[in-house]
Amino acid sequence: MIALFLFLLAALTVTVPASDVSAHNILHHLNFLPLMMAGILFGVPGAAVASLLAGAVNAPLIAWHWSQWPLDAKDQIVELSIFSAAGLIAGYLSDRESAHRRMVEQTKQELEKVYLELRENVAHMKKTERLLAAGQLAASLAHEIRNPLASISGAAGILRRGAARPEYIEDSLHIIDLESQRLNKLLTGFLNFAKPRSLRLQGTDLDAILSSVASLASHAAETSRIALVHEKVAEIPEAECDPEQIRQVLLNLVLNAIEASPPGSTIRLRARAGTSGTRIEVEDAGTGIAEEIADRVFDPFFTTKPKGTGLGLAICSTIVTQHGGALSFNGNPGGGTTFCIELPRAREMTNGR
Ligand SMILES: Nc1ncnc2c1ncn2[C@@H]1O[C@H](COP(=O)(O)OP(=O)(O)OP(=O)(O)O)[C@@H](O)[C@H]1O
Ligand SMILES: [Mg+2]
Repeated sequence: MIALFLFLLAALTVTVPASDVSAHNILHHLNFLPLMMAGILFGVPGAAVASLLAGAVNAPLIAWHWSQWPLDAKDQIVELSIFSAAGLIAGYLSDRESAHRRMVEQTKQELEKVYLELRENVAHMKKTERLLAAGQLAASLAHEIRNPLASISGAAGILRRGAARPEYIEDSLHIIDLESQRLNKLLTGFLNFAKPRSLRLQGTDLDAILSSVASLASHAAETSRIALVHEKVAEIPEAECDPEQIRQVLLNLVLNAIEASPPGSTIRLRARAGTSGTRIEVEDAGTGIAEEIADRVFDPFFTTKPKGTGLGLAICSTIVTQHGGALSFNGNPGGGTTFCIELPRAREMTNGR
């Protein structure tokens, strides 16, 4: 098309009468267009070929012109040279732009490749982490089951020998009974932790839940001579949560608080509206939580109690996380502990539905 354009201009120059100076002038200046187009579209090589072609096509015309008007002919040579130079500059810029574009494209492809590799690595790492966590959990469970099993087996051995004294028989039966209950508690807790049931969300009056928890735990509190106080701070709007699960969480927290509190102390329960949802607090004046164990209390099977399973807080944490909330605590050794459940507003709860 560019070559055709150049030939067409030369042909028109030949056909237009020599007296029509302005038409000749325009036709000559129009050579600028194909030379620039060649540079923009095909780079420096394209501009060079087009310049040579323009020179070759215009040479006879300029030669004829030279015999009539040598000054005009010189102008035409200078102009054609400038047009060619402009075409070559446009070609150079176009080549540079193309090289830049190719480089950007190549970098983009490399980045995409790195991103894909990174995603694969992260997925692989997550899978390894999950397997590792499952392995650790299974090992901890096996360890926890071994102690009661050893006690049951020892007691069964005494019974099997037959000649034991009646009080030993009574003791052995008591051990079998107690350790079976412990195993049952351990396995029920483990199932609750490992396979929590899906949430049944509904509008819930949290103060009503706190009252029911206070009365459920009142017997344990009275036995330990601890006062359980439900403080009604202010009217709070209904929260959307699974009332059974939240009751279980609060009961675990209150039982922990009772176990950590000295006789004569008070445990306070309260719910209040927070900035991003609802906040429920269980405050005790007990032993507090030492710094060395603070980051382990939510780990499954972590316990400081001889008969504890260490699953209470792990289950609480799973349930609160399922609600899209957070479970945290404040406490210093000897200064009591406050556990805090933060439940988000209804629309933010997406997990477990
Ligand atoms: N209110 C609290 N004050 C002081 N320490 C606490 C309190 N709540 C929890 N803890 C510490 O966190 C540990 C883990 O608690 P978690 O409820 O998970 O298990 P546990 O109470 O030991 O056993 P289980 O719940 O099976 O009876 C406890 O053993 C205790 O050391
Ligand atoms: Mg507990």
